Amino acid sequence: MQHPPEFHDRMLSLALARVSEAAAMASAHLIGHGDEKAADQAAVNAMRSELNKLEIRGVVVIGEGERDEAPMLYIGEEVGEGIGPEVDIALDPLEGTTLTALDMPNALTVVAMGPRNSMLHAPDVYMDKLAIGPGYETDVVTLEMTPTERVHALAKAQGCETHDINVCILQRERHEDLIAEVRATGAAIRLITDGDVAGVMHCAEPHKTGIDMYMGAGGAPEGVLAAAALKCMGGQMYGRLTFRNEDEIARARKAGIEDLDKIYSRDEMVTRDVIFAATGVTDGNLLPGVIREPHLLTTETLLMRSKTGSVRRITYSNPV
Ligand code: FBP
Repeated sequence: MQHPPEFHDRMLSLALARVSEAAAMASAHLIGHGDEKAADQAAVNAMRSELNKLEIRGVVVIGEGERDEAPMLYIGEEVGEGIGPEVDIALDPLEGTTLTALDMPNALTVVAMGPRNSMLHAPDVYMDKLAIGPGYETDVVTLEMTPTERVHALAKAQGCETHDINVCILQRERHEDLIAEVRATGAAIRLITDGDVAGVMHCAEPHKTGIDMYMGAGGAPEGVLAAAALKCMGGQMYGRLTFRNEDEIARARKAGIEDLDKIYSRDEMVTRDVIFAATGVTDGNLLPGVIREPHLLTTETLLMRSKTGSVRRITYSNPV
């Protein structure tokens, strides 16, 4: 029997940009229209259709949900033409459905691809996340440290005051204590209402975004996508799954997770070299949103390969 070809990330990366572009283009006419579901569905349809044009034997490992709750791009769905390399796909066709529906900043379409079995099969539970950008010693901050210790350690590593550190946190009730503790250190906080993949990615380009560190609990699937992004951009990230009930524990067990307390490093969430594409839907610090003219849509996509650390920004215009 013939073995499938190796995963050639260089060949597939430009094709991956098309996948995230298509999702952003498809949801563009729903920006600001208050309909999260319609915006998400448009992005899902477009992303799935583009993925199915690729010469890959793809399996969705991070997707729209379990098969019984998501008819398309569910976990385990096979995508691609069924010829070519065996790959894992992690995706979020619209990361920030509410941001899109309300025309608020930082909504993205996101997709990552790596060789088979290269990404953590994260269940749909929360993950406690911690991320910083490149250029620091390993473990300068860790999830075992208190938030106060992390801020002090990062300030020391940067040679600045805690006052000069800016931490990005999702605005949620569950983060009230975290926010109060970080404020007490004197650090600044950028509260975001949604979109923690972008939140983590902000750490990789602090001069552009003003963010030094990301902390707090958000979706575990989004955690794996963020780890894939940081693996390309540089930076450290840690994640620990958190469970609110027995059902969530059962989801983790079903996904093959044995050690429920494990802290995953970036490279344990994404174990091999990957390619990553994100297209801006609404304007953000990392990417501009889709520019909508009467007969023309224009997108900007960040396309990255972890093997080389290459980062491309691709502008794409298409008449509508
Ligand atoms: P959606 O795009 O599915 O709306 O998710 C947005 C998001 O903000 C993620 O970025 C984040 O990880 C998660 O939701 C947080 O979940 P919750 O809203 O339950 O706190």
